[in-house]
Amino acid sequence: MALLAALPFHLPDGVFPRAGVAYVHYLSFMVCFGALVLERRLIGPNPSRENATLMVITDIVYGIAALALLGSGILRVLAYGQGSSFYTENPLFWWKVGLYLSVGALSLYPTITYILWAIPLRKGELPQVSEALAARLGWILNIELAGFALIPLLATLMARGVGLPGTAIT
Ligand code: HEM
Repeated sequence: MALLAALPFHLPDGVFPRAGVAYVHYLSFMVCFGALVLERRLIGPNPSRENATLMVITDIVYGIAALALLGSGILRVLAYGQGSSFYTENPLFWWKVGLYLSVGALSLYPTITYILWAIPLRKGELPQVSEALAARLGWILNIELAGFALIPLLATLMARGVGLPGTAIT
């Protein structure tokens, strides 16, 4: 703190918690995206033991990062952003939340599939994955990736007040 006071410039109050929550938001977004890309690369019919195990672990990491993304997003709305009404009054914010929840709902199908893989894997057996199931999971992952690519666009517009009724763009 004494070090901060000695700085030759003034930092606004609470800048570090705000930056920290924003950092968690961006980091968890990157981890989610990276996990989805990895799952997309790994998915295929009758995976090897290594690939199936890696898919299960990647999905767990994805789930934790998705929760951190949600938690940091909520914190930014409630305490570390531009005031909750700045967001809740903007339809773009609700589109963003809706898109996030839709992607989350979509990811239930792959997640349940991987949880079921854990049963044969623990017995030392390989999960049976047909061409059709692999193709279906691949498409779901494609849609999730597209959703994750679109959400930051809504976020950057929303953060600048686009969509707010009667507010000029800054
Ligand atoms: C329900 C979930 C979410 C909530 C409640 C939420 C909330 C927020 C809030 C309040 C901000 C601050 C905007 C500002 O600076 O004023 C923000 C920024 C941002 N969010 Fe989210 N978010 C969520 C999910 C996501 C997801 C899933 C992604 C990415 C896929 C994402 C990407 C971003 C980005 C890139 C920004 C920075 C925008 C900018 O400053 O230009 N958010 N979010």
